[in-house]
Amino acid sequence: MSISENKLPVRGKMITFEGIDGAGKSTHIAMATEFVRRHGKTVVSTREPGGTPLAEKLRDLLLHQDMHLETEALLMFASRREHLAQVIEPALARGDWVISDRFTDASFAYQGGGRGLPIAKLEALEQWVHPHLQPDLTFLFDLPVEVARARLDATRTLDKFEQERTGFFNRARAEYLRRAAQFAPRFRVVDATRAVDAIGAQLQGWLGELLESRP
Ligand code: TYD
Repeated sequence: MSISENKLPVRGKMITFEGIDGAGKSTHIAMATEFVRRHGKTVVSTREPGGTPLAEKLRDLLLHQDMHLETEALLMFASRREHLAQVIEPALARGDWVISDRFTDASFAYQGGGRGLPIAKLEALEQWVHPHLQPDLTFLFDLPVEVARARLDATRTLDKFEQERTGFFNRARAEYLRRAAQFAPRFRVVDATRAVDAIGAQLQGWLGELLESRP
C-alpha cells in the first residue's frame, strides 16, 4: 500500500456557539450548518448539555432539577465527556466538521461567572475531560442582558437557568467576555443586537476564512 492510500483523513474543524440565554444563537446555528455543508463538508450539528442519549438524560436533570453547584458542574462535564467520546472526537477524526450549540465556555460563564464556582475548579475539570481539544472557532453572541431577557419568549416555560436573575446573566456575560479576551484567536464576538441578515453575513465571512484555512 502506498503512503497516500494509508493516509488518515484530515481532522475536521470544531465550531461552537455561545452566549447568554436569549442571544439568538439558534437561527444562526442552522444557517452556519447549511453554509458549511454547501461548501462540501459533512457537518455534525450538536448541542450541550446533550448530544448523546445519556448526555440528553443528564441535560434533562441539569435543566430541571435543583442541585449543589458542584454537582451541576460535574454533571456538565460528565455529559461533555460522553459527548466527546461518542460524537465529537469520532466526527473530527473522520474529517467531519462539528458545530456545537455551547461547549466548555458555557461552564465557565454559567457555573463560574453566574454561580461563582472558582475558575480553578473548572480549569481542573477541563484539563481532565479534554486536555488537548479546543474549538477552532467560537462565536460569542454578546448583547445586554435586558435585551436578551426581553427576547426569551414570554409564553414559553423557562428552564432552571432561564429563570435566573439579571445579576446571574450579567456575571455570565462578563465571564464570556473575559474568556473572549483571554483566548482572542479562537473567539469572534458577535454584536447580537443587530438584524439576523447582518449577523449572518458576518458569520459567513468568518466561516469562509476557516474553510479556506490550511488543515
Ligand atoms: P441552551 O441549549 O442554550 O438552552 P435552550 O435549549 O433553552 O435554548 O442551553 C441550556 C442551558 O444550559 C443554558 O441555560 C446554559 C446552560 N449551560 C450551563 O449552565 N453550563 C454548561 O456547561 C452548558 C453547556 C450549558
